[in-house]
Amino acid sequence: MNSRLAGLQTYPFQKLAGLTRGVTPVPGKAAIRLSIGEPQHEAPRFVLEEIGTQLYTLSSYPTTQGLPALREAIASWANRRFHLERIALDPQRHVLPASGTREALFSIVQALIDPADHARPVVIMPNPFYQIYEGAALLAGAEPYFLNTVAQSGYRMDFDSVPADIWKRTRLLFLCSPGNPTGAVLGREEFAHIIELAERHDFVIASDECYSEIYFDEESPPPGILEVASELGIADFRRCVAFHSLSKRSNLPGLRSGFVAGDGQIMGDYLQYRTYHGCSLPGLAQAASIKAWGDETHVRANRDLYRAKFDAVLEILAPVLDVAQPEAGFYLWPRTPQDDETFARGLYASENVLVLPGSYLSRTASGINPGCERVRIALVPPLAECIEAAHRIRHHVESL
Ligand SMILES: Cc1ncc(COP(=O)(O)O)c(C=O)c1O
Repeated sequence: MNSRLAGLQTYPFQKLAGLTRGVTPVPGKAAIRLSIGEPQHEAPRFVLEEIGTQLYTLSSYPTTQGLPALREAIASWANRRFHLERIALDPQRHVLPASGTREALFSIVQALIDPADHARPVVIMPNPFYQIYEGAALLAGAEPYFLNTVAQSGYRMDFDSVPADIWKRTRLLFLCSPGNPTGAVLGREEFAHIIELAERHDFVIASDECYSEIYFDEESPPPGILEVASELGIADFRRCVAFHSLSKRSNLPGLRSGFVAGDGQIMGDYLQYRTYHGCSLPGLAQAASIKAWGDETHVRANRDLYRAKFDAVLEILAPVLDVAQPEAGFYLWPRTPQDDETFARGLYASENVLVLPGSYLSRTASGINPGCERVRIALVPPLAECIEAAHRIRHHVESL
């Protein structure tokens, strides 16, 4: 076997299964799962109906590059959403469909990291982080370098703390905005600063923006890397690659549909990589995705549902827990009154509510593990269930 596999961590949900094994939750309380970020709002009906009309596409192989109509739908969505005017996405050169961003976040690292790079390549990522970033770096033979994102600094990565030797070896930097689990949103100036760092130290920015459509103020949607690159006039989106998904935006996690867009040179080489990698989207998923990217009404309605849940849940939890409305996304990331594993196990045992211990999403870096004594609470179930869960969490905190 590939010896690098031994470097992979147990995935957080397996760790959680281990933590709760042998624990029998109190009887009489229905299970509520807030541990996994799987949207549970209804998928848009018109998208599901489209799938029904496209069954005939199963009798042909889809291409890696996807239908021109899909790339056009994606490019026109992103050009509109991120005001890409000065430099706009060309559907032929800058866009590739992906079977969900997870697959693409993993595979782009394999395509970008050069095994012949003798200076041990570094991939910088936030800490806590979406676990694929680390696994992808390790399997590509790169060294993950974690930048802690903690409450005191507004969950910002401290780029000034990166030593010169690390910058020299950095080939790729992951951003996650809006952040999972912190909900922090990078501003235009921060993106611009990171683009400047990428030029100075010659690395690629992989900007994971799969929560970009879950926000609270309709007047100020989170900006994205392509938007800032376009404003700055970065030709061909050099060094900038963004990842977007229908999973959270359109409640279609099972469709496995997202896209990668940006640097034309990288997209060309990455297309070649993907031809061998073999993750083309089935024709019916492509047709459904075209419909989904073309509609904003269901996305606005989706945000209304999250807004209502945050309002209700924060009112219940704020008196007993250090919770705050995130800038975007659908997670709460509160500090816990006990260590995160003890808290999560106890909550499961006494209230039958599952949340994710924060340390399952983070590593110790610079002497700190920023996930310790925090839990991630995904407000994905329907409103009534989120309210019930909030009452039970409050009850549990009060009983400690
Ligand atoms: C930060 C982040 N990136 C990417 C993904 C992957 O999403 P998908 O593969 O469904 O597009 C997730 C899923 O939870 C996530 O939280």
